[in-house]
Amino acid sequence: MNATANITNSPEWNCIHTNDSETMFPTNFAWGAATSAYQIEGGWNVDDKGPSIWDTFCHEGGRLVFEGQSGDVTCNSYELWEEDLRCIRQLGLTHYRLSLSWSRLLPEGITRHVNQKGLRYYNKVINDLVASDVLPMVTLYHFDLPQALQDQGGWKSPEIAAIFDSYARFCFESFGDRVKLWITLNEPYVCAKLGHEDGIFAPGVKEPGMAAYLVGHNMLRGHARAWHSYNVLYRAKQGGSVSLAINSDWAEPLDPASPDDTAATERYLAFTLGWFAWPLFVTGDYPEVMRSSIEVRSKELGYQEGSRLPRFSKDEPSLLGTADFFALNYYTSRRVKPGECCPGVLGLKSDQDAEGVVDPSWPVCGVSWLAVVPDGLRKLLKYIKDTFNNPAVYITENGFSQVGPVDMEDVQRCGFYHDIIQEIARALREDGVDVRGYFAWSLLDNFEWADGFSVRFGLFHVDFSRPERPRTAYRSGREYAGIISKYRSQTMVNI
Ligand code: GAL
Repeated sequence: MNATANITNSPEWNCIHTNDSETMFPTNFAWGAATSAYQIEGGWNVDDKGPSIWDTFCHEGGRLVFEGQSGDVTCNSYELWEEDLRCIRQLGLTHYRLSLSWSRLLPEGITRHVNQKGLRYYNKVINDLVASDVLPMVTLYHFDLPQALQDQGGWKSPEIAAIFDSYARFCFESFGDRVKLWITLNEPYVCAKLGHEDGIFAPGVKEPGMAAYLVGHNMLRGHARAWHSYNVLYRAKQGGSVSLAINSDWAEPLDPASPDDTAATERYLAFTLGWFAWPLFVTGDYPEVMRSSIEVRSKELGYQEGSRLPRFSKDEPSLLGTADFFALNYYTSRRVKPGECCPGVLGLKSDQDAEGVVDPSWPVCGVSWLAVVPDGLRKLLKYIKDTFNNPAVYITENGFSQVGPVDMEDVQRCGFYHDIIQEIARALREDGVDVRGYFAWSLLDNFEWADGFSVRFGLFHVDFSRPERPRTAYRSGREYAGIISKYRSQTMVNI
């Protein structure tokens, strides 16, 4: 079926037509879908699970979560895992990306106390996947720090790096015989910025221009330790790969002829992608333009107390080379110009001095931030290839949301999946990017953080009004299954 034709029926859609028959993928390409523990599991306080910062954030009054909702039950995957497995099998996925709830495994965040029922749960999930020929990609941390650790300072505390490392070792030891693809941390940018600058994600800290840099720094330190632990203690016997999932928009100058817009675009990318990718792939340190922008702004504001962007110590495990592949979460694109906001104000936005705008020709799907720009992914992949020395890339998240009345016949999302997969095929074939796999966000409708259940990203609809939480494939779920089955039956000859 030509789904692109469907969405072009609607005037706001202006999608690229490609010749489907030219599209081929490597035989071992990973066809996946992703979820995260807090967003799907529920069972927030059963079987000895400790609370996480998202439990606290949702339960405290006055927070900004849509209609005071929470992940207390959500898809109830803690009890209904076998329903999820049915969905995974129905799609024909080769890979499934899930995250572990740290406080389900270690209720206090430390290995002194292991929750055996949590361990049993994840062992079953992983065993069932492997038995179904679906390879797990496991994220150790997807936004849900154990509350016990937050009470000791959380990601702002330097000690957290060693504590994360010991949690990571515990997971490698427990599951690494079967798990070969690991993500240490999901989107440190989002944890730092939304959780510690804007305060709209857990733990709800608002310390603009300060805490986010410290949090990002400690997350990187924790990641580096965990990678080195894997490298030294587990790689030889387990043979897996470890990375960190970095989110980034594609960004290009609003006016390509304007040097100011071009410089702003460089800052925009440095403060998102570069913040976490530069240390891992290029220099072991932050991008120079990020450091200098922060220094300049600090001076302007008369800020005296040393650099707000911490420095990596030579006595600690180095960051450079601590990613075995590039894990990219891509959702949207922006055109960029110098920032207009907040002169004289301490904050990331003012340090970055770059503003992203949505091109009026891009359709916005569901949530206001999500302008749908499939070819932005191809451009970003090319940029990653050129900037980070041609790494193997997994697209660990990408998706399209629905807001408002449920539309089971979601033709726009069908078209979106066709278009995005064509763009990946072009990146492989025409740009020579070493793309190893694609994970759609998400397998299921789930708790979409501050937007609660008002935003639906699933390939399967979940009826949250019923205790059984029935899962039903959207048309886009069936389409994705069709895409997978079509490309899995082909062999790529020419890349
Ligand atoms: C990502 C996040 C996911 C999911 C997605 C859609 O930033 O990792 O958990 O919420 O965005 O907004």
